[in-house]
Amino acid sequence: MDWGIKNRLSRIIKKDGRTVMLAVDHGYFLGPVSKLEDPAKTIKPLLPYTDALMPTRGVLRNCVDASNDIPIVLRASGGNSIIGEDLSNEEITVSMKDAVRLNVSAVAFSVYIGSKHEHQTLINFAKLVDEGMEYGMPVLAVTAVGKELEKRDARYLSLCCRMAAEMGASFVKTYYCEDFGKVIKSCPVPVVIAGGPKLKTEYDALEIACDAIKLGAAGVDMGRNIWQSEDPVAMIKTVRAIVHEGIPFKKAQDMLKGLRKRSA
Ligand code: 5RP
Repeated sequence: MDWGIKNRLSRIIKKDGRTVMLAVDHGYFLGPVSKLEDPAKTIKPLLPYTDALMPTRGVLRNCVDASNDIPIVLRASGGNSIIGEDLSNEEITVSMKDAVRLNVSAVAFSVYIGSKHEHQTLINFAKLVDEGMEYGMPVLAVTAVGKELEKRDARYLSLCCRMAAEMGASFVKTYYCEDFGKVIKSCPVPVVIAGGPKLKTEYDALEIACDAIKLGAAGVDMGRNIWQSEDPVAMIKTVRAIVHEGIPFKKAQDMLKGLRKRSA
């Protein structure tokens, strides 16, 4: 691996091989999603517990203080909205030149395997990887499913993660699923999990984080399950202990309860 890519990646994935990424890029197709109406206000208290932040360039430029030493994984795909016909119709939305100008540590691109725009998203992804190679910029592949949440099983996600890795992803973001070990075992690059839409309880999100880490995930890239939770700081602190200390689910539950009591 090229030194520049290695160096940038090492800012995101820490020495223990793990990372707590905070996803705040949702506005690129969801607009002002609940609890992210004012991104600066949502992001600021969570930054001290975040290893890497995943925003769009608009949120980065307008809502994140440039003096922060936080590695950025920049959302670089888009081109559709939640009210449009087909979420898979994405293209590259940020030039590599602008990503470098923003001094980001990686760019993120969604691939929609099995969708109407599978070919388009894969070819654009490959183009971004090629450009990334020129500039020493890692590319995160997001295995997106659009509105078809039921697609998220181990057979499908293993296919997506493996394809993304084969096509040059430095790391992959996917969903947790039953038999998640199968996804991890067949993917030769680090895998982080998204939280997906807000789960019923905070404990559900902690449980998938614990299981994913136990099964070999490199960490999480969670959004809504952190900043839409009752106490986002308590939640991210607990997720951090799961990711970097490997605390089991029961301990994570107790930790979250304890932190919440203290902040109440
Ligand atoms: C959208 C994304 C989001 O960053 C992702 O969904 C992560 O956030 P959440 O945990 O809220 O799902 O990649 O495609």
